Amino acid sequence: MLKRVREDQSKSGSSPSDRHSELTRFVDRVGGLMHALNWLKEEYGYVDASWIPTLADVFNISQAEVRGVISFYHDFKLKPPAVHTIKICQAEACQSLGARQLTKDIEAKFGTNLGSRTSDNRVELEAIYCLGLCAVGPSVQVDDRLIARATPDSVSLSIE
Ligand code: FES
Repeated sequence: MLKRVREDQSKSGSSPSDRHSELTRFVDRVGGLMHALNWLKEEYGYVDASWIPTLADVFNISQAEVRGVISFYHDFKLKPPAVHTIKICQAEACQSLGARQLTKDIEAKFGTNLGSRTSDNRVELEAIYCLGLCAVGPSVQVDDRLIARATPDSVSLSIE
C-alpha cells in the first residue's frame, strides 16, 4: 500500500550515502532488487530515475539492468502517479461482462483515455489484465481497492 506520494522524490534531501544505506538492507534477500523497488514504490509511489545509479551500485548490476526490471513490471513507474489510479480489467472474462463499454463510460466520465491522465493530475486510467475477480466482472482497481461488477458510478464514488 502506498504510504505517501512525496512531491519530488529527486529532491527529498537524501544524500547518496543515505540512499545507499537505505538500500543495503535488501542486498542479502532473495530477489533483493525487487524488494528495494517495491519499497521505493510503497514509500514514494514511483521510482525516481535519480535512484537508478545507487540501485545499480548496491546490487552490483548495470543501470541498464535496473531500468530493464523497472520497465518489465507495469507497476513500477519512473514518474509520480496521479492522485488516483483507476485500473480497468481488459481481459476476456471482463470483456464478456461489459468491460469495453465500462471503459468507454469511465473515459467519458473522467475526460481522459485509457493510458492517460486528467490534466489536473487527479485521475489516471490504466489497462490491467485480470484482477482475480473474473466471475464478478467487470473488475476495476481504484488505488488499492478492488471493485467487482464495477459501474462508472461505483468507480466514481470510490475516489470521492
Ligand atoms: S478477467 Fe477481469 S478480473 Fe479476471
